[in-house]
Parts: sequence; C-alpha cells; structure tokens
Amino acid sequence: MKKKDLLGLRELNKKEIEYILNLGEKFLEILKRPIPKVPTLRGKTVCNLFFEPSTRTRLSFELAAKRLSADVINFSASTSALLKGESTLDTLQNILAMKVDCFIIRHSSSGAPHFLAKHTDASVINAGDGTHEHPTQALLDIFTMKRHLRDLSGKKVLIIGDIMHSRVARSNIFGLLKLGARVFLAGPKPLIPDEFEELGTYLVSDIDGILKEVDVVMGLRVQKERGGANYLPSFEDYRRFYGITVERLKIIKENALIMHPGPVNWGVEMDYEVLKDKRCVIHEQVTNGVAVRMGILFYLLGSGEIKEES
Ligand code: CP
Repeated sequence: MKKKDLLGLRELNKKEIEYILNLGEKFLEILKRPIPKVPTLRGKTVCNLFFEPSTRTRLSFELAAKRLSADVINFSASTSALLKGESTLDTLQNILAMKVDCFIIRHSSSGAPHFLAKHTDASVINAGDGTHEHPTQALLDIFTMKRHLRDLSGKKVLIIGDIMHSRVARSNIFGLLKLGARVFLAGPKPLIPDEFEELGTYLVSDIDGILKEVDVVMGLRVQKERGGANYLPSFEDYRRFYGITVERLKIIKENALIMHPGPVNWGVEMDYEVLKDKRCVIHEQVTNGVAVRMGILFYLLGSGEIKEES
C-alpha cells in the first residue's frame, strides 16, 4: 500500500484513494483537539518547493507538516537565488544536498514533479504541475464531498469552466470516476477537448438543465495566466453562460454542494453572494485540506502508526 511519491490520481487505485481519505478523517479528529498536534513525523524534514504562487496549498502543507511535528523549510522561486541567475537544476541539486525527506513541488511545467521524483530518494508530492494534475486538491475536494454525501457511487458531479487548462479538474475526474461518481463537464467549447469524454465523463451544454440534477457543482477559476481568458468572449459573457450566480442558486438542488478550489474570480465564475449560501463549502474545503494533507504526509513518510505524545 505504501508509496514513495504522490504524483497524480491517475496512478492511484480506489483502495489507495480511500486509504488516504480515511487517514484524513483520523487527522480531522486530531485537529479538533485543544492541542492539535502529534509527534508522528518528528525527525522528518519537509521542503515546500514552490515555483508558482500559492496561498492555500503551500500554507496548508506547512501547517499539516507542523501538526505532525515534522521540520519544514520553504522555497519560493520569487525570493530565491533563481533571481540571481541560478538555474533550476542547480537549485534542486543544492536543496537535495540538504537531505530532506519530502519535497512538495508546484511548477508551471507539467511533469516537473515526475522529473524530481526520478532524481531523489526523497518522497515527492505534486502540489500542481502546469495543466497536468493537482492531486492533493482533488483529494481534499473528494474528502469534502464524501463527508456530506457518504458513498459517491452514482453521485452526479458537475465541473464548470476551463477544463482544458485545469489540473484540478483533471485530478478530480480521475479520482471521482474511480470512486464511481458520474462526472459532467460544462464550459466554453474550446476549453473542453473531446478527449475528456473518452475518460468516461459527460459533456453538457445545457448548464441550467443539469444544475437541477447534480449533487455537486464545482466552479473552476478562469486561468488568465494560462491563456484561458483568450478563449472567452468577455468575462461578462462567461458569467452569464457559465457563472454560479445568485439567479442559478434557485435551480441548484436543496442539498447539493457548491465548491471551488480557489482562488475565485468573484463575479466571473461565481458571484460573491454564493459564499454565504449554506450549500457553499469553499472554506470547509480549505479546513479539510490540512487534515487530508496530514494524511498524505503520513501515508508517504509515516511508520504506519499515528504516534501520540507519551
Ligand atoms: N487551490 C489552490 O491550489 O490554491 P493555491 O493556488 O492558493 O494553492
């Protein structure tokens, strides 16, 4: 069951996904304690290696590692010697020389975590690579869905937006299909290549029709930095056709979940008022992210036993 790396959900089977989600449940309980910390990874060193901006993923991994008593070092490209002209390879070789146990890497190039994993004995966790995968985001999304809906088998999940550029969508599709969910995709046609249907998803054009039926609605960020905005006529049109708006709240099922991985372009893929709707679990996703990432770190680096303070 144990693995060295977590590079994508394409590589995990149903049992492995469920194992990590169950660990997330255990750590969520620990996070509710007055002192939400265990000595489980004492002596281990985790390196956050972020070549792209992040708020949620980086801080959540840092907190998860600290809650497990691991030491954490943080590399951020924007404040590193890369700015003095050091190459990425030199940067990695120097950090490898510091003998860390786990790298958590975000990079704009798809495959960067896989490259790193081949060149180190340390564990590597993909914290988002280009337009490829963001497996830890999908695990926390699926964890949040399961906490509300229990068994995801047969449940209908609608993902709306820039599917083509979204590593979050890709990881969610792999994970959700393995757990038996039915995944529906909607968005501007040029941003949903036909290959996605071959994965076993359903492409839908009538968003208002499908919204009445689904158990989960997930909005995705319009990724201006990856050129996603170039495929759109205007943000106003995007909101009108694909936005999770105040008007659309009336047609979403009473007990459905409204999700978004963040950061949100408010007024484009989602109206700000949606955040106040009781079906919206965006901040719960972030809370759950710490527990799920504790589970992932434990899965890769732990001894198999969640140690307690003696
Ligand atoms: N959802 C997500 O990856 O957010 P950050 O870019 O803030 O890490």
